[in-house]
Formats: sequence, C-alpha cells, structure tokens
Amino acid sequence: MPGKNKLPRHAARLLLGAFLASADSVFAQDVGAPAGLVFGTTACSSCHGKADERSRQYIVWSQHDAHSRAYATLTTARAARMAEALKIASPLADARCTSCHAPVQTVAPALLAPTARIVEGVACASCHGVTGDWLRSHTRPDFTHEDRVASGMRELRDPYHRANACVACHQITEPALVAVGRHPALLFELDGQTRSAPRHWREAAGYDGAQAWYVGQAVALREMSAAMQDGRIDAAPETPRWQALLWLVQRTGLDYDSPQLAGLPLTATPSTLATATAFSDRVAQRAAKTWAPAQTKALLAKLAATHPEFSAADVPQPAQACRADRLVLALDRLLAAQPAAERPAAASARLDELFRLVQSQQDFVPVKFARTLAAFARDLGP
Ligand code: HEC
Ligand code: HEC
Ligand code: HEC
Ligand code: HEC
Repeated sequence: MPGKNKLPRHAARLLLGAFLASADSVFAQDVGAPAGLVFGTTACSSCHGKADERSRQYIVWSQHDAHSRAYATLTTARAARMAEALKIASPLADARCTSCHAPVQTVAPALLAPTARIVEGVACASCHGVTGDWLRSHTRPDFTHEDRVASGMRELRDPYHRANACVACHQITEPALVAVGRHPALLFELDGQTRSAPRHWREAAGYDGAQAWYVGQAVALREMSAAMQDGRIDAAPETPRWQALLWLVQRTGLDYDSPQLAGLPLTATPSTLATATAFSDRVAQRAAKTWAPAQTKALLAKLAATHPEFSAADVPQPAQACRADRLVLALDRLLAAQPAAERPAAASARLDELFRLVQSQQDFVPVKFARTLAAFARDLGP
C-alpha cells in the first residue's frame, strides 16, 4: 500500500543520484520529506499524458527529453566500452552507472510500486520526489503549491531547490569515469541546462536567467566541496575543477554576506572545503531569495575584466583551462539574460570565438584566450 511503506532516507538518496547527493546536513530539507513507494510514469500519464498544452508532460518527456533515454544509453556500444575500461560487468546492473541513468535499479524491490520500471531511466519520480503521500492529495482543487510541497512533492520552482534536484546527477562523477571510462565530464549550469531541456512546464513569471546561473554555480560549488571533503570523490584529480569554480564565484564579487567565501584561499584543505560547503550553500539560498536584475550588466563586465589573469604565468595551463570553461558558460548566460537591445552583436560573435578556444582542454592557450576575452570586454561597450 503506497504511503505505508516508508522509504528509508538512504534509498531516497540513492534515487536522487545516490552516493553522489550531498551530506544530510545540506540536503535534509529535500530528501527528508515523507516518503512512500517509488512509482513509474503510468502513475502520472493518465492525467499528465494528454494532448492539450496543460497536460502533455508525459508526452514531452517520453518523446523529446533525454532523461527518458537515459537507460537506453546504457545499452549502447559506447556504454559497453566504458564499462569494459572500468571493469564493470554490466552497466545496466551497476550503481556506478544506474545511480544517474536508471535510478530505479538502485532501490530495493520492496520499495518499488508495481508501476516502477528501470527502463524508464530518469522519470518523474527522480525530479518530483519519491513519496506516495502527495500523489493522492496533489489533485485536490483546494490544494496550493505550498500544500503539495508540504505533503512531500519536491519544490522545483525556486532556483535553489531546482538546482539541488539537478545537481545530484549533473556535477559529481568519480574521476575514473571520465579519465578511464571516457564518460563526458559533467559540469552543472542551471540556466543553460534548464533551457536546453525540452520544457514540460510553464516557467514562473519571476524566472531570471542570471539568477538561475549564479545560484546553480554556488550549488555546484557546495556539491563539489562536500564530495571532496567527505571523500566521496578523490580530491586530487578534482582539485583544478574545484578551484576554477571557487575562482569564478569569487570573481562575481556578489558575496551575499559571505566574506568567508570571498576571501577563501584556492587550496583544497579539509578546512577550506568545509568553509566552501557551508558558505556556498548559504550564498545560494540567499541569492535565490533576492536578486536584482539590474546588476547583471555590471556582473558581465566584471567577469570579462578578468582577462589579464589568463596571461598570468603563475597559474598552470590546466587550471586556466578549467577557469575558462566555466567562465565562457557564465558569459553566455549573462549575455543571454540581457534585454536584446543591450546585447551588442559583436559581443555575441566574439563569444562564439571564446567557445571555440575552450573546446579542447589540452589545446587551450591561455594568452590567446586572454586576448579574445579582452576584445569581448571592449565589444560590451561602456
Ligand atoms: C488523477 C489525475 C492525476 C494524476 C494521476 C497525477 N496528477 Fe499531477 N496534477 C493533477 C492535477 C489536477 C494538478 C493540478 C493542475 C493545475 O493546478 O493546473 C496536478 C499538478 C501537478 C504538478 C504541479 C504541482 C505544483 O504545485 O507545481 C506536478 C509537478 C504534478 N502534478 C506531477 C505529477 C506526477 C509526477 C504524477 C505521477 C506520480 C502525477 N502528477 C499524477 C492531476 C494528476
Ligand atoms: C537522477 C539523475 C538526474 C537528475 C535528477 C537530472 N538529470 Fe539531467 N540527465 C541525467 C542523465 C543520466 C542524462 C543523460 C541522458 C542520456 O542521454 O543518456 C541527463 C541529461 C540531461 C540533459 C541533456 C544533456 C545535456 O547535458 O545537455 C539536460 C539538458 C538535463 N539533463 C538537464 C537537467 C535538469 C535541468 C535537471 C533538474 C531539473 C536534471 N537534468 C535532473 C540525469 C539526471
Ligand atoms: C553522476 C551521474 C552519472 C553517472 C554515475 C553516469 N552518468 Fe553517464 N551521463 C550522465 C549525464 C548527466 C550525461 C549527459 C552529459 C552531457 O551530455 O553532457 C551522461 C552521458 C552519458 C553518455 C553519452 C550519451 C550521449 O548521447 O552522448 C554515455 C554513453 C553514458 N553517460 C554512459 C554511462 C555509463 C556507462 C556509466 C557508468 C560507467 C555512466 N554513464 C555513469 C550522468 C551520469
Ligand atoms: C529532469 C527533471 C524532471 C523530470 C524527469 C520530470 N519533471 Fe516535471 N518538472 C520539472 C521542473 C523543473 C518543473 C518546473 C517546476 C515549477 O516551476 O514549479 C516541472 C514541472 C512539472 C509540472 C507542472 C507543470 C506546469 O506547467 O507548472 C508537471 C505537471 C510535471 N512537471 C509533471 C511531470 C511528469 C508527469 C513527469 C514524468 C513523465 C515529469 N514531470 C518529469 C522537472 C522534471
């Protein structure tokens, strides 16, 4: 009977990207919700799988969303090669792959509703929550969004909670997956990834791309810091990526009352990682509550003005490449968040050039990037 069989917190975490999701202290409000059985999409499609604009969520997901193909990806020849390199017997039956691509595989059978199916990949439950309690009550006409969230449906409207939902599968990978398995390196960026996913919802009126970008970066920093701190991922190979992210958040100069983060040295020690975990979470929560769209233009100029740092001889090339990777995505989202009339065409063209320069980490030439970034800064105008 749904709702009676409580899903242990451990299993709830597994469903959300597992051993990857952050420490309880950080994530408690998201995974500590009342829990029931894990359900499949047929529990939703009767009402959310119709042809009309308001009820076609299942159609959008099943026909257009990469998440519905996440299990199928594990059946490809490419996945088989990755598994072989990593000495994984079957990617379809190993949590090192299924925790993100087919989370149902990682849940004990006793906790699965009859509708739950591994082949559905990343389905409704992975993002909307795994409780049976809200499922029955959420259709009540007298229920508000807040009532639904209180009964266990996951909050996804505000950028902080949405970022928490996505980041579990979109930032942290064991370094071997990329180095040995040649898995795509994961880099979480909330605004761009929200826009490139085929949307099955109407975005709330207050959505601001620059805010979503910033909150997403702070949440990504929290996740990386926490994972390195508690040893879920090997800190040494991740350090350049972590440093680049902290560098970028610091260069925004938006400290949301957190001088601790602004002044933190870029060295990954237990103490700096603990500080980064705690304060990036705080900054993300605050920025999700208050954001002034007017600051976006200045922020863009400030980040473009980092160009001299890419000619600095004391930062090694791999570190520069990681910084540039994050920075270009930032410029892209901040430029897109500007009103069209304030987006100089020359800057958009220059951004394409910057994207080309960061395509390969190995071939990245910092001084060339510095020159193009300086030109981008000029293109932005006064
Ligand atoms: C019996 C029909 C029915 C079923 C089954 C159903 N829903 Fe709904 N759902 C509704 C109705 C009605 C609403 C309210 C629509 C509105 O307010 O526009 C809704 C609203 C929602 C919302 C928006 C809530 C908010 O406040 O933001 C989400 C998300 C949602 N459903 C997800 C699901 C998921 C996931 C499933 C499957 C586990 C599911 N629903 C199953 C009828 C259903
Ligand atoms: C349970 C894990 C999980 C969660 C939670 C999750 N994703 Fe994904 N996502 C995946 C996997 C796995 C893929 C790759 C699918 C494939 O092609 O096999 C993917 C692919 C994508 C893609 C297409 C590839 C790309 O990176 O451009 C986008 C966009 C995306 N996700 C956005 C989001 C957003 C936005 C959220 C939060 C609202 C989210 N995801 C939550 C696991 C997840
Ligand atoms: C931390 C979550 C996570 C884990 C663990 C994970 N993946 Fe992925 N995988 C993703 C996401 C997210 C994407 C989409 C990335 C993108 O497009 O940038 C993806 C993409 C892929 C792709 C490329 C799909 C395409 O169409 O380009 C393959 C193949 C793949 N994963 C296989 C695997 C295999 C095999 C394993 C286990 C060895 C695995 N993944 C483990 C999250 C994960
Ligand atoms: C990758 C994450 C993800 C997956 C998978 C997912 N959703 Fe959503 N869904 C979202 C986000 C993000 C929103 C926007 C939430 C908001 O603004 O309140 C949303 C909104 C909704 C809404 C509200 C629609 C509206 O216009 O406000 C419904 C209903 C819904 N989803 C149903 C489903 C169903 C049914 C499935 C499975 C077939 C599903 N979702 C799978 C992330 C996801």
